[in-house]
Amino acid sequence: MRFNVLTGNAFGWPLRKFLRDLPQDYIGTMSKVQARHGDLVHWRMFAGMVNLAFISDSTLNRELFVRNTDALGKSPSQIQTFLFAAGQSVATAHGEAWRTKRKEANNLFSRSAVEASCAGQVAVTQDYITGLPATPQQALTIARRLAAVTSSRGILGRAISLEEAAKQIAFSKAAADRFNVESGQLFARPDWMQAPWRGELTRRKNEVFPIVQNAVDALRASNAPNDGLMNHYVNGDFITSNDDEMHSILVGLLMGAQDNIAAAAAWVLAFLAQHPDLQNQIRTELSQKGSQASDLHGCALLNATLCEVLRMRPPAPANQPRVLQKRVELAGHQLPKGTYVFNSFYNMHRDPAVFTDPDRFDPTRFLDGTLVRSPSFAPFGHGPRNCVAQGMAMQQLMAIIAGSLRHHRLETNQQTLPAITQMPFLTPAPFEVTFRKIT
Ligand code: HEM
Repeated sequence: MRFNVLTGNAFGWPLRKFLRDLPQDYIGTMSKVQARHGDLVHWRMFAGMVNLAFISDSTLNRELFVRNTDALGKSPSQIQTFLFAAGQSVATAHGEAWRTKRKEANNLFSRSAVEASCAGQVAVTQDYITGLPATPQQALTIARRLAAVTSSRGILGRAISLEEAAKQIAFSKAAADRFNVESGQLFARPDWMQAPWRGELTRRKNEVFPIVQNAVDALRASNAPNDGLMNHYVNGDFITSNDDEMHSILVGLLMGAQDNIAAAAAWVLAFLAQHPDLQNQIRTELSQKGSQASDLHGCALLNATLCEVLRMRPPAPANQPRVLQKRVELAGHQLPKGTYVFNSFYNMHRDPAVFTDPDRFDPTRFLDGTLVRSPSFAPFGHGPRNCVAQGMAMQQLMAIIAGSLRHHRLETNQQTLPAITQMPFLTPAPFEVTFRKIT
């Protein structure tokens, strides 16, 4: 496998137009590049002053993200936006600083810490679904609210009201709108400090802080632990110098757990609504089980369905673009320092050599547990810098499915799956669903 080296105005896009298109339609742009020029493309411009690499080969992606983790910096504009929205975190750190923060984050998202709130997440999902009228409702609104109530239940250890959920959703949307633009914005913006969107994001963020502060105060006043991740910070299990830092971390977590989970939940609703038989099979599986994490992990079809949804519609269709901090050799080809690297899980997930008939929705392909370990299946990224909250995200989504289906049937008037939009997570175009109570 060799890199296809292109020079000049190689894609029929002048660089400026390309940089404008990329944040609007990351997967569309990647797919076009890959369809025309193959799985490995190195675009050299201005006599090598600007270099872009596009990689949709799973083996090389893994090699890059596992063996060269420290070489993969994020672009200054992404970091600026992350810092502004959520403060210093594992997502903004690099090198040694990142390793320290990642260790702490791995502990925070340890299996036992994450699993403690599973039954609570199923319960808040069930409460929300039971409260819905049995008439067609916007699926995206349902998905966003489910993400907010289950994330808060897992992180803060308590149920939040729909009013609080709305604040969490608005904050995450204000941040995600920026990431979408800034992720494709490869160079730091000189006018960043004056950017008008900063006011809106600050206002939205300030609406979420009181939710977190109240949860911390209530936990301290109760003198008893709760089952949320927050408990570990309040207990002093991690080095947080003061309450302000702890509040920022928790607000950052709520943001990190909102839009990607909402996008995945929306696709879960879209696929399940099209497949009533599958709903019945999952419901039968659930009828033998409780709502603890061990119960849900024991539901093979539930797990397989979730994997198939994440394969066909990975909420994060790619890593955030990376900029090489040093020269990297890949497939015998030298990518110079400063190269911007783009990859695509979306393309990898459609490799017919790995996923037979890749456009067919078939959860059973994941049942024997082989494909979930394939390097071509990477909805949470590759290597040591993959999603630190993968376990929590999977559990939360399983809780959402279990809480939605146990006592309800999901229906839609849509004949086909909704179209894909990118904002920046892959999200279905608006569609309606009806939840009917099973009597
Ligand atoms: C379906 C849901 C989710 C998906 C598809 C997803 C996907 C990803 C991917 C692909 C990455 C790697 C990004 C890159 O390297 O450029 C990542 C990183 C990360 N994710 Fe997730 N994620 C999900 C849920 C969550 C949740 C719930 C949280 C937190 C509560 C979270 C926190 C993070 C953090 C902090 C990182 C950065 C890790 C590091 O830099 O070491 N994610 N996620």
